[in-house]
Amino acid sequence: MQVRDTHSSLKNFVVFEGIDGSGTTTQLKMLAEALKRNSVLFETTAEPTDRPEGQLIRHILKGEIDADPGTVAYLFATDRHQHLHGKAGILSILQKGSWVFCDRYILSSLAYQGITCGEELPRLLNSPFPHPGLTIYFRIDPERSMERVLRRESLEIYEKIHMQKLVSAAYDRIVEKKRAEGWNIELVNAELDIGEVGLRVRRIVGSHLGIGLD
Ligand code: TYD
Repeated sequence: MQVRDTHSSLKNFVVFEGIDGSGTTTQLKMLAEALKRNSVLFETTAEPTDRPEGQLIRHILKGEIDADPGTVAYLFATDRHQHLHGKAGILSILQKGSWVFCDRYILSSLAYQGITCGEELPRLLNSPFPHPGLTIYFRIDPERSMERVLRRESLEIYEKIHMQKLVSAAYDRIVEKKRAEGWNIELVNAELDIGEVGLRVRRIVGSHLGIGLD
């Protein structure tokens, strides 16, 4: 089974990225319905994961455990390593010939931890990880996405407008840089209504999969 299309890119691994409230989780659920309808063999997953490493991160994000920003960068990288290389991890799912769709990956660390602990550490920690065959970046004005986030019951430590503006600007820079390095990144205007965003996501993913997605 040919999993890698270049020395470090995983063709059948697709990632959704964007600031909080950009709709990645909702869009991934909608895409999963379309993939099922079209009998695509796939799994969806997310970072931080549900594993103990990811749960520890969740406690920190809720403000229940204090952690140095550098520690958080290491934890996200630890969670990611296990997510990729663990027994039921991304690489083993890909080996079985399935597509994998993941809510957040390397670019989240470069954007969020790049702000909280500086660019160097997340860059180093994430440099060994393979890059996805396709990344969809859900771009939205942070003022708009914060309106959505503020409707939620509880807020996490990054969910403040000042932070979201910094993360948004960081994402824009990182996406340009990664594209220049050869990453396949598609941008979607996440301010459009949910159905229109879903349609665009299906077109992009359908074209990557080489099928029409209804
Ligand atoms: P999120 O996808 O927003 O989860 P949920 O919608 O279930 O709350 O992810 C939680 C937060 O984790 C989000 O603010 C982004 C942050 N995050 C990082 O800071 N670095 C990372 O590497 C990842 C994967 C997520």
